[in-house]
Amino acid sequence: MSEVVGATHAFHDVEYAEDWARRFEPTPERLHLFETIWQQLQETVPADGHVVELGIGPAYLAAYLLERMPRITYEGVDFSQPMLTQAAARLAGFGERVQFQQADLLGDSWGGDLARTPSAIVSTWALHDLGGEAQTLHVYRACAATLPAGGVLLNGDFIKPDGTRLPFEAGRFPIGRHLELLLEAGFTDRRCLHLWEEEIEAATASQNYACLLGRV
Ligand SMILES: C[S@@+](CC[C@H](N)C(=O)[O-])C[C@H]1O[C@@H](n2cnc3c(N)ncnc32)[C@H](O)[C@@H]1O
Repeated sequence: MSEVVGATHAFHDVEYAEDWARRFEPTPERLHLFETIWQQLQETVPADGHVVELGIGPAYLAAYLLERMPRITYEGVDFSQPMLTQAAARLAGFGERVQFQQADLLGDSWGGDLARTPSAIVSTWALHDLGGEAQTLHVYRACAATLPAGGVLLNGDFIKPDGTRLPFEAGRFPIGRHLELLLEAGFTDRRCLHLWEEEIEAATASQNYACLLGRV
């Protein structure tokens, strides 16, 4: 098979973003990633702490966390207006606990423009879309610079599984490389918490995602 494992998106297009959200409703495995992030946040984030999500999309993760952590405030960063519109509709019931920032994660401003200092930064299935290791490192560095001592980054994202001979798009790279980039970015504690839907022989673009933790 010579086809690259990956996908191209048109997140700025209203119809595409709405269709994508319909197709991406969390499956039981994907909910297990949300649960893993939630468990980590419970250990790290004060009851009234601030959580920032990079690439909030249609806000499936955000709704999951806001329901289970009733006093946190939440800030979603995304460059797509159609996605931010969907996120605002899905999270309307959480009122003033939720804020949004429209920004490109590859820019240098989003960290300084946050409403509050976050206790944690989370992200699911977003950073691989930035294009490759250099872009992921750029965001990891911005996260390390934004988090206070003890703060955590939890990045649940598509990776390239060890042992595969398939070509993957550049934004999907091995877990070991993520851990190296987290170190380079300034995270002292770095771990992979779990890998879901591992498939090395006949992988589709929706398989092989891991939860990476970095603590400053
Ligand atoms: C898969 S969705 C996130 C799904 C979300 N975590 C959830 O649980 O509903 C990825 C999001 O990342 C956003 N994104 C991709 N590249 C971006 C960039 N360079 N800057 C900001 N947002 C970006 C897209 O617009 C999209 O909304």
